[in-house]
Amino acid sequence: MATGFVARQSMRMRAALSVSRSASARMSTASATVAPKTLPSLSMQGKVCMVTGAARGLGYEFCRAFISSGCTSLAVVDLKEEEARSAAAELKTFAQTSGDVDPNSLNIIGIECDVSSEQNVQKAYGEIMSAFGRIDSVVASAGIVENYTAFDYPYDRIKKLYDINVHGSFFTAREAARNMIPNGGGSIVLVASMSANIVNIPQPQTPYNASKAAVKHMASSLAVEWAKEGVRVNVLSPGYMLTKLTRTILSHNQELKKTWESLTPMGKMGDPEDLAGAIVFLSSDASKFMTGSEIRVDGGYCCT
Ligand SMILES: NC(=O)c1ccc[n+]([C@@H]2O[C@H](COP(=O)([O-])OP(=O)(O)OC[C@H]3O[C@@H](n4cnc5c(N)ncnc54)[C@H](O)[C@@H]3O)[C@@H](O)[C@H]2O)c1
Repeated sequence: MATGFVARQSMRMRAALSVSRSASARMSTASATVAPKTLPSLSMQGKVCMVTGAARGLGYEFCRAFISSGCTSLAVVDLKEEEARSAAAELKTFAQTSGDVDPNSLNIIGIECDVSSEQNVQKAYGEIMSAFGRIDSVVASAGIVENYTAFDYPYDRIKKLYDINVHGSFFTAREAARNMIPNGGGSIVLVASMSANIVNIPQPQTPYNASKAAVKHMASSLAVEWAKEGVRVNVLSPGYMLTKLTRTILSHNQELKKTWESLTPMGKMGDPEDLAGAIVFLSSDASKFMTGSEIRVDGGYCCT
C-alpha cells in the first residue's frame, strides 16, 4: 500500500512538473511575442509624462505610445475636463489590457487646461506636481488649423490660432522646464508640422504655416537656452495624418484627400500610429544627446 501511495505521488509530481514545464514553455513563447527585445533606453518606464491636446487625435496616440513603452504615470491634458477624464479612463483600460502592468502602479489622470491661458497651464502643472511630484517628458500637441485666404481671415480667428499654437506651446514648454530643472531636466517635444517647412497646397492657411514655423524655431531657441540645465527641446513635424483635425477639413472636400495623397511621395496619408516610434524616441533617453532637432514624419512630402 505504501509502495502504491509513493508511486501515485510520484506520478502526480511528474504530471505537475510536466504541466508546469509546458505552462512555462507557453509563457516564454507568449512573453517572446508580447515583449520583443528592444533598446532599453527607449523605455518610458518610471517616467512621468504629460501630453496636451491628448483627448483625441495625435495627442491620444502619443499617450498610447508612452503606455506601450512602459509609462505608468501620465497626465492627459485637454480643453474640456470631461473629455480629458474620459480619455484618461480609456487609456487606463488600454494599459491594463495591453501588457503585464501592475494595476496598482497605474496613475493616469485627466486635466482640463486651455493652453492659450498661461494661468491655466500653470494650474495644470500644479496638479501634475501634486499628483506625481515630478515631470520628465512633455509633449505639446494641442493645436488648431483653419483655412481662409489671407484677405478673408478674420483677425480674431488669427489671434486665436496664434494664442493656441504659438503661445500655448511656449507656456507648455516654459512651465515644463521650470518644473524639470530642479529635478535634473527632462524632454519636451513640440508638435509642429511639415507646414513649418513647406507651403501646403491647394488650401490656404498662411497663419497656420507661420505658427508652425514659429514653433519649430521656438524649439531650437529654447533648446539652446536650457541645454546646460538638462532640458531637451525637440520638434516632431507630421505630414498629413488622418485625425479629427484633417477629417474636418476633408468632410467639406472629398477631392482634397486625393490631392494630398498625390502630393505625398508615399501616396497616402499617415496613420497617427506612424508617429509612435518618433515620439517615444524623442521623449526617451534614446535621444539624450539630441536637442533643438526636428523629426519629420511625412511620407516624403518635404523632399519634393
Ligand atoms: N493631423 C495632421 O495631419 C497634422 C499634421 C501636422 C501637424 N499636426 C499638428 O498636430 C497637433 C495635433 O493635431 P491633431 O490632428 O491631433 O488635431 P485634433 O483636432 O484631432 O486634436 C487636437 C486636440 O487639441 C485640443 N485642443 C485644441 N485647442 C486646445 C487648447 N486651447 N487647449 C488645450 N487643448 C486644445 C483639442 O480639444 C483636441 O483634443 C496639432 O498641433 C496639429 O497642428 C497635425
